[in-house]
Amino acid sequence: MCGIVGYVGRRDAVAILIKGLKRLEYRGYDSAGIAVFTGDSGFACKKKKGKVNELSRILEQEPLTGNIGIAHTRWSTHGVPSDTNAHPHLDCSQEIAVVHNGIIENFQELKDTLIIEGHTFLSETDTEVIAHLIEKFYAGDLEDAVRKAVKELHGSYAICVTHKKEPYRIVGARLDSPLVIGVGENENFLASDIPAILEYTRDIIYVQNNEIVSIDLDSVSVKSLDGMKIEKTPEKINWDITQAEKGGFPHFMLKEIFEQPDVLRKIINTRLSGENIHFDELNLTEDDLVKTRNIAIVACGTAYHAGLTGKYMLEECTRTPVWADTSSEFRYRDPIVGDDTLMIVISQSGETADTLAALREAKKRGAKVLALCNVLGSSITRESDGVIFTHAGPEIAVASTKAYTAQLATLYLFTLYLARLKGALSEARIKELLSEFKRIPYLLEEILTRYKVDGNEIAHYAKDFKAYYEKGHTKSFFLYLARNINYPNALEGALKLKEISYISAEGYPAGEMKHGPIALIDENPWVVCIATKSRTYDKMRSNIQEVKARNGIVVAIVTSGDENIRSLGLNYVIDVPAVDEFFSPLLIALPLQLLAYYVALEFGYDIDQPRNLAKSVTVE
Ligand code: G6P
Repeated sequence: MCGIVGYVGRRDAVAILIKGLKRLEYRGYDSAGIAVFTGDSGFACKKKKGKVNELSRILEQEPLTGNIGIAHTRWSTHGVPSDTNAHPHLDCSQEIAVVHNGIIENFQELKDTLIIEGHTFLSETDTEVIAHLIEKFYAGDLEDAVRKAVKELHGSYAICVTHKKEPYRIVGARLDSPLVIGVGENENFLASDIPAILEYTRDIIYVQNNEIVSIDLDSVSVKSLDGMKIEKTPEKINWDITQAEKGGFPHFMLKEIFEQPDVLRKIINTRLSGENIHFDELNLTEDDLVKTRNIAIVACGTAYHAGLTGKYMLEECTRTPVWADTSSEFRYRDPIVGDDTLMIVISQSGETADTLAALREAKKRGAKVLALCNVLGSSITRESDGVIFTHAGPEIAVASTKAYTAQLATLYLFTLYLARLKGALSEARIKELLSEFKRIPYLLEEILTRYKVDGNEIAHYAKDFKAYYEKGHTKSFFLYLARNINYPNALEGALKLKEISYISAEGYPAGEMKHGPIALIDENPWVVCIATKSRTYDKMRSNIQEVKARNGIVVAIVTSGDENIRSLGLNYVIDVPAVDEFFSPLLIALPLQLLAYYVALEFGYDIDQPRNLAKSVTVE
């Protein structure tokens, strides 16, 4: 985790670095720090516990000026969030400054040796060993010292390093944590992710594992660990920084929820030509896909819920056995995966450490790995055999919304593509489904138009919940019930709510209620029942009655125009337009996201940056 950024140029480095950090706060935000060359061989470092704004406040009181510097926003792994554990970390001579994203697994052994050799450590972090190792190897050439130091490190890192004796350059390196170079005119940048620097340059070089980079005012060099020069041509970024800003919405999460119709449109335009489905970047042959005997889907968090929905889609349409698992469980259970397995890994960021490790494990066992990923050039896309980009655009809010529906939409199209290849579904049914799929952006718009206005129904339900809670029902929590292809949506609805409102929430297959959760039902839980028209509609109606009979409060998501279900005495109703049951998860995801959003808003929490979480989890 963590975000790093470096700048060498003629402009105010502090302003550029702070802005960059703010755009990287989705990677962690428990402390932040900056080191800059202040001219006349001066070098200053400031660090502060808390968000980047805390650091900005310090810099307003004690300003720094300079044109070269590095900065960091932290998500703690080793050592509590504190001023001391914040990066940059310095060596004993206070001449070398290091910012780091990743984990140094052998830091304790290295630290013990360095202490015996006379080094003094100030923090509890793993990162500090990097500064002292570079100090140990420094003999007048920072790049050389960094090269020697990283050879000692086990684990993952993206680092930016400066040395007071070389106040014209920044050296960087990476292994399994992302790092990009931004190439400018008389200025160059390093950063964990493109939004940090996109305002200044669109020319980006993706740094690969085991590469050492050095940037100064007018040059960029990339070398291998053996010191061999590697030629790199920058790639042009064609998305805009406004896409990474709030665009008038109070929170990124709300903005991203409202972007979903456009994301779906983009996916349709990119993937469909008439009734032909194409994935130009796929890089797997039709033969690879046809000979697949089983499909394994592996992912974390929200991406896992998309994957679990994919299991329902793929089994129904391709008649291929599919299992879905979380990446962290997959790795350690000796999974049955072989050369007849298609492993689908799903990741918004493409950097999730558990998913990357699962991918490597599956490849080792002979599986073909297909990545569904949102971030171009990310580690997961580079290491997979094939890739399908999900085209959600940059997602900034920690709670994933548009990336989820983009993953679902992509899985739907991949399912139909595979079903056609395998001849598992009639052409007539595929065409019927594709024609229904093309309506989805309009249906999403219909939902969002309804819930856009201030004081909309979902916002009102959230208000009622808070009032209920404050009236003494502090044991209230949310239970999400659904069946079949919407069961993963129940898990996702519960995840969204707990992520941003810190209220206990659980998702359950409604049929399992009688095996446990029913014991929880009294006047406390608010039970969100996904009860749209489907083959399990009648069963859901029975579940609603069971909840009502025990005084539970029901929030039902129903198909517009279904007056009949209202006779069950629902406490709250959310309508969604009618759609083929197969695609209903795409629609139902939206009210679930909005409910979580408005509950968190009522409680006044930090919606875009919930406590203890980070957007991209690059530690196992
Ligand atoms: C974190 C994020 C989640 C995300 C999960 C997987 O937990 O907070 O929103 O779903 O990581 O991330 P990925 O980038 O692999 O989709």
